[in-house]
Amino acid sequence: MVIGILAEAELPIVSMVPDTAARLTKAGHRILIEQGAGSAAGFPDHLYAEVAELKTRAELLAESDILLSVQVPTSTDLAQIRPEATLITNTEIFAYPDSLNVFEGYAFRVLSMDEIPRTSLAQSMDVLSSMASLSGYRAVLEASTLFTRYFPMMITAAGSIKPAKVLVLGAGVAGLQAIATAKRLGAQVEAFDVRSAVKEEVQSLGARFVEVPGAKEDGGAGGYAVEQSADYLARQKEEVQRRAVQSDIVIATAQIRGKRAPLLITEETIQAMRPGSVVVDLAASTGGNCAFTQDGKCIEVNGVHILGNSRLAYSMRQDASLLYGNNVYHFLTHYLKQAEQNALMHDEICRAVCVHPKSES
Ligand code: NAI
Repeated sequence: MVIGILAEAELPIVSMVPDTAARLTKAGHRILIEQGAGSAAGFPDHLYAEVAELKTRAELLAESDILLSVQVPTSTDLAQIRPEATLITNTEIFAYPDSLNVFEGYAFRVLSMDEIPRTSLAQSMDVLSSMASLSGYRAVLEASTLFTRYFPMMITAAGSIKPAKVLVLGAGVAGLQAIATAKRLGAQVEAFDVRSAVKEEVQSLGARFVEVPGAKEDGGAGGYAVEQSADYLARQKEEVQRRAVQSDIVIATAQIRGKRAPLLITEETIQAMRPGSVVVDLAASTGGNCAFTQDGKCIEVNGVHILGNSRLAYSMRQDASLLYGNNVYHFLTHYLKQAEQNALMHDEICRAVCVHPKSES
């Protein structure tokens, strides 16, 4: 197979790093890479020299059987992809159902990595988990630089400093990584989720699990949280406010797949928080957990810093590229094996990611 790695127009990452590309070369594939594709992520062209052929974007689009791109390429690019080619990308169809419209009229196949099922078998291919883990880690580091106090307890000759109090909203992949990171920095951490299954995980990381009884859970939602009743959300907001005013840092990660993120931190809560506190909202792109959140911006309200950023994973550009590429490698290996056995449409993972053409999905 001829596998082409496209440069990302808007992200500072690359869909496969040289070491991972080398594994595909070793498996007998020919790898093409667009000039400069890895530069922003810290992988200049010369690092790919032994494993891939440098190409222009037009050459790559015309020659590749399989195209790799984290973001969907532009409409000009799509028009140049061969009908028999396969594009492996992220369509974000769960958040934007219209995102597949750009492929209408094209015969090439589109596989969306963000549709990989959250199952044990697919764990090594799960790009959402890789990125969420990086975001959760980075969220705490960003909070620590905005925060003007120590995280750990400090006993100094000048006096003692109490440890910072961190509240984590949503204990999915990002939230659990945020808890672990805040604990490593010495903070006191409590966390909150509507899925009771995470209670043990939260506690095993040394954090306190905050419970608001009566949450709705749905075993058929693929492990994802479901929307809660107005009554539950009202009680939850009250509890969050009670906890947030006692906290120094709030890391907000609560999301519901395909829906607006739950609004958990109201304007009133921010007004009641101590000046100097910090909110990092990773749910910013789906509406935010905090009423003041603006995606991609850090604002200050009543002395409280509110950083909204759903793309924090990409600021960890080297590891984001490494993990994303490894996920793609594992998926591609699986996919090609299924294709060889003519079993694509019988395989749960392959069926789930195939989003275009519609007759195949
Ligand atoms: P996510 O990014 O969709 O949501 C983050 C967290 O917010 C979730 O834990 C969710 O329960 C929570 N949440 C939603 N509404 C809330 C509210 N009103 N208040 C508080 N918390 C709220 O979640 P993520 O990290 O993508 O994980 C989704 C599911 O997939 C989880 O069940 C996770 O355990 C599962 N998973 C399974 C994997 C596997 O088996 N290979 C790998 C990764 C995740």
